[in-house]
Amino acid sequence: LTLCGGIVVVAYLLGSFPTGYIAVKQLKGIDIREVGSGSTGATNVLRTLGKVPGAIVLLIDALKGVLAIALAYSLFSYAPLQNFIPPTVDANLWEPWIVILVGLAAILGHSKSIFLGFTGGKSVAISLGILLAMNWQIGLATAGVFAVVIAISRIVSLSSIVGAVAVPIFMTLLHQPLPYILFGVAGGLYVILRHRANIERLFAGTEPKIGQKVEVEA
Ligand code: G3P
Repeated sequence: LTLCGGIVVVAYLLGSFPTGYIAVKQLKGIDIREVGSGSTGATNVLRTLGKVPGAIVLLIDALKGVLAIALAYSLFSYAPLQNFIPPTVDANLWEPWIVILVGLAAILGHSKSIFLGFTGGKSVAISLGILLAMNWQIGLATAGVFAVVIAISRIVSLSSIVGAVAVPIFMTLLHQPLPYILFGVAGGLYVILRHRANIERLFAGTEPKIGQKVEVEA
C-alpha cells in the first residue's frame, strides 16, 4: 500500500513538472500564465513561442504521462518492485486500479502543479501520453478524433473536448476493464471542466483558431 501511495505521489510530481512554464520563462523571460489563454500547455506555448517549442512541450508533456503509467505497470512486472507485493494480493485485480490512480494523479499534477502554486495546463497532452501507455489503440484513436476535429475547426480546445468525450466511448467499445472505463469518464470530465473558459468563448464565438491570439482572463 505504501509503495502504491509512493507511485501515486511520484506520478503527481511527474505531472507537475512545468514544461511549458519553463520553456517560456527560459526563451522569452515571461510567465506563460500571463499571456494568451493563461494555460501552461503546449497550445499556449505554440501561441507564445511558435511551432517547434510548442511541439517539444507537447512531446515532453505526453512523455510525462507515458512515464507515469510505465511506472505503474512496472510495479507488477519489474522483479525488484514485485518483491514488495504480498503474495496474497491478486496483481491482475489490482493492476488496473493502480494504473488509473497513477493516471489521475499525473493529470491532476499537470493542471494543479505543486511547482506553480497549483496552476498549470489543461492536461490534454499528458492524458494522450497516459492513454497511449494504457492502450495504444485507444491513444491513437483519440489522437485521430482530435486530428479530425482540428482539421475541420482549427480550434484546439474544441478538438480536446471532443477527444475527451470519445475516450470513455472507445474504452467501452474495446471492452476495457471497468477501472479503465471509469478513468475515461473521470479523466474526460476533468479535462472538459478545465476548458470552462474555452467553452464560454466557444459559445460566444470568440474562441481563437490556430494562429489567432487570445487574451488571458482576469
Ligand atoms: O491543450 C489545451 C487546449 O485544449 C486549449 O488550450 O491554451 O487554447 O486554452 P488553450
